[in-house]
Amino acid sequence: MKKIFLGLFLLISGVSLANEGMWLPLLLEKLNEKEMRSLGMKISAKDIYSVNNGSLKDAILSFGGFCTGEVVSSQGLVLTNHHCGFDAIQNHSTLDHNYIKDGFWSRGTGEELPNPGLFVTFIVRIEDVTGPALKGMTAKMSESERQSLVDRNLALIRKNTKKEDYQDILVRPFFEGNQYYLFVTETYRDIRLVGAPPSSIGNFGKDTDNWMWPRHTGDFSMFRIYAGKDNRPADYSTENVPYKPKKSLSISLDGVAKNDFTMVFGFPGRTNEYLYSSAVKQVMEVNDPAKIAIRSKALNVIDGFMRKDEQLKIQYAAKWAGISNAWKKWQGEVMGLTRTRAVEKKIEYEKEFQKRVDANPVFRTKYGGLLGDMNTAYDELKPLGLARDYFTEIVSKIELFTLAGQLSSLVNAYEKEGEAGYTSRLPRVKERLEGLYGEYSALVDQKLFEALMEMYINDQAEAFRSTTATEQLYNYRGSFSKWAEAVYNESRLDDGVSMLDLLGKNPEEAVSNIKNDPGFILFNEMLHTYQVAVQGKLNEIQDRVNSLQRDYMAAQMEVFKEKKFYPDANSTLRVAYGNVKGYHAKDAVDYDIYTYLDGVIEKYIPGDYEFDLPPKMIELYKKKDFGPYGVKGRQPVCFIATNHTTGGNSGSPALDAWGNLVGLNFDRVWEGTMSDINYDPSICRNIMVDIRYVLFIIDKYAGAGHLVKEMKLVHPKKAVK
Ligand code: ARG
Ligand code: GLU
Repeated sequence: MKKIFLGLFLLISGVSLANEGMWLPLLLEKLNEKEMRSLGMKISAKDIYSVNNGSLKDAILSFGGFCTGEVVSSQGLVLTNHHCGFDAIQNHSTLDHNYIKDGFWSRGTGEELPNPGLFVTFIVRIEDVTGPALKGMTAKMSESERQSLVDRNLALIRKNTKKEDYQDILVRPFFEGNQYYLFVTETYRDIRLVGAPPSSIGNFGKDTDNWMWPRHTGDFSMFRIYAGKDNRPADYSTENVPYKPKKSLSISLDGVAKNDFTMVFGFPGRTNEYLYSSAVKQVMEVNDPAKIAIRSKALNVIDGFMRKDEQLKIQYAAKWAGISNAWKKWQGEVMGLTRTRAVEKKIEYEKEFQKRVDANPVFRTKYGGLLGDMNTAYDELKPLGLARDYFTEIVSKIELFTLAGQLSSLVNAYEKEGEAGYTSRLPRVKERLEGLYGEYSALVDQKLFEALMEMYINDQAEAFRSTTATEQLYNYRGSFSKWAEAVYNESRLDDGVSMLDLLGKNPEEAVSNIKNDPGFILFNEMLHTYQVAVQGKLNEIQDRVNSLQRDYMAAQMEVFKEKKFYPDANSTLRVAYGNVKGYHAKDAVDYDIYTYLDGVIEKYIPGDYEFDLPPKMIELYKKKDFGPYGVKGRQPVCFIATNHTTGGNSGSPALDAWGNLVGLNFDRVWEGTMSDINYDPSICRNIMVDIRYVLFIIDKYAGAGHLVKEMKLVHPKKAVK
């Protein structure tokens, strides 16, 4: 009896075990503060989030909408990851000034480099607007009726919310649309690059080590926020001055020890923690494997070129990192879901859910058939979801099609609104194309076409293949290489100079040329096939699935009343907390919490693409010249903890029990990447670079001690002793 009871308890409390969850800052006091204190936190929920008084949240920012950063000085200095600042670093790099390879350090504000398009966003306050957002909702409404009602409500909410004119308002759905929260934000658009270590430090171990523990990467870069003279957001101007923040983080030189409390404060992008079991099964058995296979092929092609050609290595570096990152994550995800029996656990959970529903007449009327309906809907989704993944993965990896997509929007504008439409659309398209051509190699792309179109044709059911594509292939007697060669010979899309020149000509001529381009024609035929055979039906089923998952979310919160729920990540500000802890990776393999510079040196392979090191680093190591950043003759590098994080949390501050900065979050361990779908405390760990390694690199390696001087360094542990 006792055993059953305990089993049941663990089962139903699965979602609310300490360490799991990405929590809303404004609800910490109500939901989490007690637990956070029991895990070791020494500050209060109000110190983390408070609207009227400066709190930690005022130092946290969304970095460009895809990463997190934090303010670490009264002069608007920002820390984030190297891979978050990578685009900026790459844009300022040439073969002569190769900041990717050599790093970059400004010696004063005059040398800091502007980055058009880059912005950071602070959260001023958060409000629960569920009531007004769902006002007038009835159970009988269709998805589209519901959507237009919500849209009208949100417009009204935006209109009625008080804010300064330099602030913005954002309203987002939570719990699959059962709740809504409003965010008042401030966005700064003059963000300058201050410093970055060489890639051999900032991305040490590259793809071999990516998503892996033990890790030895100094994954950080530095920026500075500039504001108008009134300290408010302003477009780039030489007149702008360093931003004076409401709050900047203090930095601890004391590090963390096993079981110490840590929290991660940032902008996690997307998770799916409340999926129905067969959805998880599809991810593991259908979607992830297909996407992994397509990317394996693409990476193989690109790798072959990058290893041979230094120029291509720079050009394709960001693309490569992007493609391989998710590719490797999905592999870990499948492995982790399998090992932790995620599907079986979901099924057990659903059995308990159904039992409770059946036992309660009110629940039974509302939710009696819910699981069955989801089962049917997910079965229908399966083949179409796979076709979607094939199409999007393949089309997005062949850049001829990306270029064609851009040109399509221009052609459409011309056909709808004539020359005026063309001319007004042209600057945007031109800018995108220039960006694409700047990092483009027709030779690499042709090989990608050859490799991936083979999958498009051979791996898919006939209904999902464009007949134009099959006919073209037939004309080249089934030879993918001959077909690719012909397409790239005859198409003008792969020639940037000629294409951009054409766009400057008269619109009629340009449009007719584009419309007759074989690359353009092929893309549009493939797109058309996709729209007809997949998209319409897929959207319809996806709407049904979304509405069922929304009901299921509401049902879980009602049926498992004793549980604490956190909303799936949606790129809004969250707090994850836990403890510094190692993990048992597999039979006979246990991992420790810290890595040291000794481990960096052990991995060092002179001249290697991934594990090379700058000579200065070896020198510092030999001299044990770690300054105040080392501990007993060793330099800490990275550590792990149980914080529940995901993509978007990169660059997030890892804070200690007192709210001091102890590290920058930048990754998760491979075995635990399935935390996006099913967090498991036994193997889910986030990886952080120790702030003392960051300071060591800035100060000792780069000689940029003036930047460290801007920061506030503290010794919280010594203070307690
Ligand atoms: N895996 C981390 C993330 O998802 C780091 C990616 C950058 N590093 C790399 N080697 N690609 O963003
Ligand atoms: N590297 C990821 C990012 O860019 C964070 C790692 C993760 O997905 O947890 O946000």
